[in-house]
Amino acid sequence: MVEENKATVSYVQLLKEDLMIMRLVPRDGPVPDFEAGQFITLGLPGDDGAPVRRAYSIASSPENKEFIELVIRWVRKPIPGRLTTKIFDLKEGDEISWLKPAGTALSISEELPDGSPDRRRIVCIGGGTGIAPFISFAQHLRATDDPREIIVLQGASYIDELSYKGLLTSLEDESRARGRKGWDFRYRAAISRPGEWFNRSWGGQSGRVETFLRPGEGGTSPLEEMIGEKITRTNTIFYICGWQGTVDGVMQYLKPAGLVAEKDKRDDGSFEIKYESYG
Ligand SMILES: Cc1cc2nc3c(=O)[nH]c(=O)nc-3n(C[C@H](O)[C@H](O)[C@H](O)COP(=O)(O)OP(=O)(O)OC[C@H]3O[C@@H](n4cnc5c(N)ncnc54)[C@H](O)[C@@H]3O)c2cc1C
Ligand SMILES: NC(=O)c1ccc[n+]([C@@H]2O[C@H](COP(=O)([O-])OP(=O)(O)OC[C@H]3O[C@@H](n4cnc5c(N)ncnc54)[C@H](OP(=O)(O)O)[C@@H]3O)[C@@H](O)[C@H]2O)c1
Repeated sequence: MVEENKATVSYVQLLKEDLMIMRLVPRDGPVPDFEAGQFITLGLPGDDGAPVRRAYSIASSPENKEFIELVIRWVRKPIPGRLTTKIFDLKEGDEISWLKPAGTALSISEELPDGSPDRRRIVCIGGGTGIAPFISFAQHLRATDDPREIIVLQGASYIDELSYKGLLTSLEDESRARGRKGWDFRYRAAISRPGEWFNRSWGGQSGRVETFLRPGEGGTSPLEEMIGEKITRTNTIFYICGWQGTVDGVMQYLKPAGLVAEKDKRDDGSFEIKYESYG
């Protein structure tokens, strides 16, 4: 029997007609403990009255005990999504059901298989709303003064879909102001439809987010240009969230370098890639 909880929708911000940031405040207790990278399951009655439940990655940090924040796409095609269509009808003050946070696919690696601390550079790659778990990561790693080098790469079709650009930019500004000492954070975005009129002010990376890993002339990728060294098995761990095509696109560049996903970890327990895909 699933334990269903109730929450109040405390904040709705429409970024565009089919993309929103929503905050929930639990009705019967505090925000539950969870780990950065986890999701919660939301539920509302469907047209037949039976609950429709779907998973949503938590964007707020585990340290935030005021609300749970989510970024949600209204699925419209080929037919309107059963839950997201109802979520987009909700107003501040309305009630929604939730099941407790779950998921380990994107938990932050703290230890290597030999028990030593994991000090590898963290590279997060989020396509579309797949940026959500990495907003939680970034805020959590900042709140805990994590000493590792952190890079967040975000992909979107349109510049107004770069949700959290402001937050991620301020985290990078802070890092720069501190000479990247004690807080080493960088953020870059890629726009996949750069030729469209709406994106005419875009001057950053063009193409889907995995193009940050595509070797350019001389064999160095934009990510390697940024970090100033080759990606190896020992210097970087990757976290990916988005379409399966995004995961496959990233793997296509990392596999030849000998990196493997947690799901295919070696006999000694080592791996360099964790992912959660929209499946
Ligand atoms: C771990 C995890 C985390 C997630 N995190 C997020 C997140 O942070 N943000 C987010 O926006 N989403 C997230 N999702 C996706 C979310 O769980 C839902 O899958 C999504 O919101 C769609 O739900 P829905 O009920 O609106 O669509 P559904 O009704 O489930 O429809 C899903 C798709 O199937 C199509 N479809 C349904 N029925 C038919 C049919 N009869 N014929 C043809 N096509 C059909 C729909 O058009 C739609 O494209 C996550 C999923 C997982 C697994
Ligand atoms: N953890 C999860 O499972 C999870 C998390 C969040 C969201 N979702 C679900 O995923 C769905 C869509 O997400 P979204 O709206 O956030 O994405 P989106 O905005 O449609 O796409 C984000 C980026 O991914 C690219 N992309 C689209 N299809 C791709 C493919 N097949 N392979 C590689 N890249 C692709 C897009 O490029 P183009 O411009 O070229 O299309 C764009 O750059 C929603 O239904 C959402 O509910 C699941």
